[in-house]
Amino acid sequence: MKKRIEIEIEEYLSLDKLAKEDRELVEMAIKTSTDAYAPYSGFMVGAAVRLSSGRILSGNNRENAAFPSGSCAEDTVISYAGANYPDDPIISIAIAAKSNDVFTSSPVSPCGNCRQIMAEEEDRSGQKIRIILYGREKIEIIEGISGLLPLRFSKDKLMA
Ligand code: THU
Repeated sequence: MKKRIEIEIEEYLSLDKLAKEDRELVEMAIKTSTDAYAPYSGFMVGAAVRLSSGRILSGNNRENAAFPSGSCAEDTVISYAGANYPDDPIISIAIAAKSNDVFTSSPVSPCGNCRQIMAEEEDRSGQKIRIILYGREKIEIIEGISGLLPLRFSKDKLMA
């Protein structure tokens, strides 16, 4: 037997086509990328989350001379949200990244570790996260982490 997995991606060609809430979140991700600490890669990433209450939080990547000790923008903001607003689920996240001061033309593709972190957060809160990936030429929106990380490892897989 063969199975097929389908992924639905909403695509927009410019920021002003987005719903107001989504645009606002992308603008926050763009803004916070400026404060990224990325002296080693020069790749400055910003992430912003909207909580169920409407509160917006932001974070960026924090690199380290001991490379594995750095953290991604998504990890920074999701950890902060969970630590400070544990009962206010994340409903959406926007991610933007620039290299040499120029934002990527194609949408940011979150790393595997960040996908796993988003998946755990969805499981913890019971709330799907709307994922908004910014690129200068295209913006992609994926409803829920299963579109970015199908067949993921999760707590039910810990049982024999
Ligand atoms: N990075 C993020 O912050 N988020 C991603 O989704 C991809 C990669 C960071 C990690 C590192 O500081 C730099 O970008 C280059 O990989």
